[in-house]
Amino acid sequence: MAEQVKSKQRVADHGEVFTAEREVKAMCDLVAQECERIDSRFLEPACGDGNFLAEILNRKLNIVTKKYKKSAYDWERYSLLALGSLYGVDILQDNCEECRKRLFEIWNAEYTKICKKECNEQTREAAKFILGKNIVCGNALTLMKVDEKQQDTAYPIVFSEWTFPFNDSQIHRKDYTMAELLNASEQTDEIKTTGQMSLFANEDGEVEPTFLQEYIAHYRRLAENG
Ligand SMILES: C[S@@+](CC[C@H](N)C(=O)[O-])C[C@H]1O[C@@H](n2cnc3c(N)ncnc32)[C@H](O)[C@@H]1O
Repeated sequence: MAEQVKSKQRVADHGEVFTAEREVKAMCDLVAQECERIDSRFLEPACGDGNFLAEILNRKLNIVTKKYKKSAYDWERYSLLALGSLYGVDILQDNCEECRKRLFEIWNAEYTKICKKECNEQTREAAKFILGKNIVCGNALTLMKVDEKQQDTAYPIVFSEWTFPFNDSQIHRKDYTMAELLNASEQTDEIKTTGQMSLFANEDGEVEPTFLQEYIAHYRRLAENG
């Protein structure tokens, strides 16, 4: 977004000051290779309307298009994987909605341009479904989902891990609470040594966080699993 401040009240209440595009790009350049890895995961714990996530999605989709523009099937799968690798939390509902809409519009513009007549509504619904799960209206400090008054609900923030385990049309979703993911990552030295954490399991698989549930479905019928 162009404006960095929506209102003085929002700055006072929630520290809402958006990062300018130039800084977003410069910061993404610092981890340029990761931004170009289709399945490299990013979590923005106070995402606003998604300034960083939007930039990273653009970079990832560039790669998806470069590699897979000749096959609508591959473009769909890899672009959903890219979308599924981006996570955001914000305490304000309107920010979460704007963030989901913005990411969907970026994805859909590229989808429509690349896959043309092969585009279908089921894949668009799948993209919206992933965004509905990955961009969470919650409090990143208490790790709980919040209501429209920014008060904690009884429900924890849950993130879904999305993978294509068989490299076919089946997408696998595994749900974890954010608290469990942070807890598992604290048990490794990864963050201290690399400054980064693997969101779902560390590279050597030593600390495997406990998941809540898992689903497997054709990627176009994702939403059937609620
Ligand atoms: C400084 S803005 C940054 C927005 C975005 N990351 C950017 O760089 O443009 C901080 C954001 O954090 C959100 N926020 C404030 N407290 C929060 C909390 N406890 N949990 C989650 N989000 C919070 C605000 O609503 C606001 O959108």
